[in-house]
Amino acid sequence: MTSKRGIFITLEGGEGAGKTTQIQRLKNKLESAGKKVVTTREPGGSAGAEAIRKLLVEGDTHRWDPMTEAMLLYAARRDHVEKSVAPALARGEWVISDRFYDSSTAYQGYGQGLSLSILDELRKLSIGDLKPDVTFILDLPVEVGLKRAAVEQRYERMGIPFHEKLRQGFLAIAKAEPARVKLVDANQPVEAVETAIWKIIQETL
Ligand SMILES: Nc1ncnc2c1ncn2[C@@H]1O[C@H](COP(=O)(O)OP(=O)(O)O)[C@@H](O)[C@H]1O
Ligand SMILES: [Mg+2]
Repeated sequence: MTSKRGIFITLEGGEGAGKTTQIQRLKNKLESAGKKVVTTREPGGSAGAEAIRKLLVEGDTHRWDPMTEAMLLYAARRDHVEKSVAPALARGEWVISDRFYDSSTAYQGYGQGLSLSILDELRKLSIGDLKPDVTFILDLPVEVGLKRAAVEQRYERMGIPFHEKLRQGFLAIAKAEPARVKLVDANQPVEAVETAIWKIIQETL
């Protein structure tokens, strides 16, 4: 296919890692450089996916078994891709998503023990071969992130050992796909994280 395609960037990491903060800064920088930028988030990012989001971020921590949760996430993700991400990319715009499928791999796979190959099958079934052009994993000690995170919703309440598994999962994801996934030390001042991300953008895109 030779149709014009935009650039797809995702930010990943635990709660309070600084994803939302950095996405706003990256958006500003890209817009200053004359790019058209769409920011979005998961779970959510489209009307249908935002409705599913409520089922995921609210309520009892054990309300879903991991497979049900993964299917809800991928149902939301498919809608998000179809309604928001793919159309923007087709228009040639830059899309920055606050979380994408690496979060399902980290949370439901490494965190909750669901088979990584099942998650990969679900991914292909739901969104085909769509992959981010570059993914930033904002890494920092669990306690630092949870201290930064203001709201205490369902995922935040899952406990330190769970969030430790999550962190190790994200590190494994970065190691497995070094061409796409870039690890960023998020335990430094906002400006330093911003500079690290911008440097990688300039080097890779
Ligand atoms: N590098 C940083 N150092 C210190 N505090 C930060 C940093 N990045 C973000 N914060 C603060 O931590 C909190 C969580 O940041 P946020 O961007 O919302 O994280 P996330 O979206 O990953 O959960 C916010 O109050 C934010 O201002
Ligand atoms: Mg956020």
